[in-house]
Amino acid sequence: MVARVSTVAFQGIEGVPVDVQVMVAPGKVGMQIVGLPDKAVAESRERVQAALHASGLSLPAKKVTVNLAPADLPKEGSHFDLPIALGLMAALGAIPGDALDGYVVIGELNLDGTIAAVSGALPAAIGANGLGKGLICPSDSGAEAAWAGSEIDILAPRSLIALANHFRGTQVLSRPEPAVRASPANMPDLADIKGQESAKRALEVAAAGNHNLLMVGPPGSGKSMLAARLPSILPPLSPPELLEVSMIHSIAGQLAGGKLSDRRPFRTPHHSATMAAMIGGGLRAKPGEASLAHNGVLFLDEFPEFTPQVLDALRQPLETAECIIARANHRVAYPAAIQLVAAMNPCRCGMAGEPGHSCARGPRCVSDYQGRISGPLMDRIDIRIDVPSVTAADLIRPVPAEPSAVVARRVARAREIQMDRFIAFGMPRILSNARCSTSMIEKIAEPDAGGLQLLRDAAEKLKFSARGYHRVLKVARTLADLDEKATVGRIHLAEAISYRIAGERLTAAA
Ligand SMILES: Nc1ncnc2c1ncn2[C@@H]1O[C@H](COP(=O)(O)OP(=O)(O)O)[C@@H](O)[C@H]1O
Ligand SMILES: [Mg+2]
Repeated sequence: MVARVSTVAFQGIEGVPVDVQVMVAPGKVGMQIVGLPDKAVAESRERVQAALHASGLSLPAKKVTVNLAPADLPKEGSHFDLPIALGLMAALGAIPGDALDGYVVIGELNLDGTIAAVSGALPAAIGANGLGKGLICPSDSGAEAAWAGSEIDILAPRSLIALANHFRGTQVLSRPEPAVRASPANMPDLADIKGQESAKRALEVAAAGNHNLLMVGPPGSGKSMLAARLPSILPPLSPPELLEVSMIHSIAGQLAGGKLSDRRPFRTPHHSATMAAMIGGGLRAKPGEASLAHNGVLFLDEFPEFTPQVLDALRQPLETAECIIARANHRVAYPAAIQLVAAMNPCRCGMAGEPGHSCARGPRCVSDYQGRISGPLMDRIDIRIDVPSVTAADLIRPVPAEPSAVVARRVARAREIQMDRFIAFGMPRILSNARCSTSMIEKIAEPDAGGLQLLRDAAEKLKFSARGYHRVLKVARTLADLDEKATVGRIHLAEAISYRIAGERLTAAA
């Protein structure tokens, strides 16, 4: 008799249905798993046998064949243990044959018969729901799976015995509850930053329109400090965004305790990050930092210290909002709609441009260092600002600074205006100016006469690329939204262009 159990193989954040077929038949005693298993799946055999033995079920002296269908789809990970064990239990009559019909099953087994947490419970639950089925998953993954919807039947047993008891009706499992991660109480606050008013303004504009931002300044001027305060002024994730973000974190196994939070991700990879760490890849094509920062911020501190290849690999996700990992036999795409925030010193010694400083290496100190950032990557950064050293006056007798909560309210208002506009244009999936298409931005950010003249002059003198031109328009639209103005005026364009010019100076130096 062949017992069948449904499970999934993950491709990106999607769970592709996989059918586990188990047959116990006379023949050479042993257990074999076929159907493109990777190393972890092949090792499943040992765990399943030990766990069944520990649960008081020994295998008959027969030939056990496990087939994972479709056979040409690569199966990766340890979550096939539980479906294989349950298939075997059904084939041996330890659980009713039809008990598993309405479920998708994932889980890893320990040798003692308990079920260990696996990554990907949330996408598996969403996939199961799509098939009209429930989900059986490890108890530690239950809280995460429960987020997929209150109507989904979820069983999250601790052990094989607990599940068998549930099916026998002797000890019924209760449905797990979705858990929320409380936002940290003492997030860094903008009020801690003395002076740096123009940098704070740029941070607010970047937050309001979801624009990429580059801060250039000498060491100790507060660049890292400013970036760390960006999460405190960003609006919370909307429910669909939250689900998308959590699916990626679930696949990466980074949802601690299965708890979800509506805070936007803020990822700060070290500059030694490899291509696989940044874009994704490695053994099981896991999502990289760019995807883990989806719908949030990717902060690259000490920007030019990253490997140029890794930086340039970010150009594609910055444009298309997804990371594509090509493998020998398949291709995996993870969403990566990121806001890039970068900070750097102007040169290796860090003091270029400081009054009274002259570097022994001359202008090459600046050009060599900044040349590590390629032109095309720089072109994708909408707002570039200089962050000079804090003045002594600001440090010693600072003017009381605005707390994050006040700035966050203005940012939220500006985002609301943007979303309402995109809904009115029939594009509810666009949530910020930075994400809107070029044809759209020309429509919604039409400048008044004074603005048009300024834009024409600037585009001519500064030789904007077409992308640069559209990005200036997007920032100007955000500035007008912060002002709650319907039309983009000269003043908005002037500020947007000034953010671009700081960068043109940088590129010129390179
Ligand atoms: N504007 C500022 N207001 C208050 N403290 C500051 C400011 N700028 C720098 N500091 C102090 O200097 C330290 C280093 O700042 P940091 O943000 O790491 O500088 P950078 O990244 O520009 O090199 C901070 O931990 C803080 O103590
Ligand atoms: Mg720093």
